[in-house]
Amino acid sequence: MTTPEHFAQFRRDYSGAPLDTSTVSADPFDQFKHWFDDAVTANVNEPNAMTVATSDNRGTPSCRVVLLKSCDHNGFTFFTNYNSRKGYDIAVNPQAALLFFWKELNRQIRISGHVLTLSTEESDAYFRSRPVRAQIAAIVSPQSRIIENRMILERQFESIASQIDAASPERPSHWGGYRVVPEEYEFWQGKPDRLHDRIHYRNSGNSWIIERLAP
Ligand SMILES: Cc1cc2nc3c(=O)[nH]c(=O)nc-3n(C[C@H](O)[C@H](O)[C@H](O)COP(=O)(O)O)c2cc1C
Repeated sequence: MTTPEHFAQFRRDYSGAPLDTSTVSADPFDQFKHWFDDAVTANVNEPNAMTVATSDNRGTPSCRVVLLKSCDHNGFTFFTNYNSRKGYDIAVNPQAALLFFWKELNRQIRISGHVLTLSTEESDAYFRSRPVRAQIAAIVSPQSRIIENRMILERQFESIASQIDAASPERPSHWGGYRVVPEEYEFWQGKPDRLHDRIHYRNSGNSWIIERLAP
């Protein structure tokens, strides 16, 4: 079950449209938008699900999936609990790497850069847009802490839910957004015979340098 022979059955060859330094967008965010639109057209399940890697003050890495909630040339935004493991990591080391894997298209995008905490106005605005039950979950969950059992969580949830009528709850200060400001991007397109295309962008101050990486 866990032998190399077992895993050999999963081997597959990839194919995809050509990706070249001469044809990609000069601006990596435009290239991201182009690929994101392709993912939507291809019906990728949750195309905005991305892996976020952070590391603590000893350099110990950790990663997890979160949902991208907005993006533009200024960065990529997600929301979470500031007292979670990722929150503590970002507090001591405000750097992160993002990864999108769209297997239906044989594509991967890597983005890395520094992390900014969103303003309270931005976090409030997004919190207000969430369904009320998601707002309550953000209030009651001490994300990443050890809890005795699930019942405690459900009781707190129902207790708050029963007190709320028409009015939405306030955003708790422990919950809000981050923006990852990209300093580099890599677009990976799977190709036959493991000769994949990899196009890397690095920020050189006022422009982006575009280079091909070996697969
Ligand atoms: C599809 C998917 C989407 C998720 N979206 C979020 C999200 O937007 N924000 C969040 O805090 N956690 C999200 N999670 C949960 C995280 O992966 C993780 O369990 C949680 O944030 C705690 O991570 P941490 O202990 O490393 O801080 C998502 C998980 C999955 C699988």
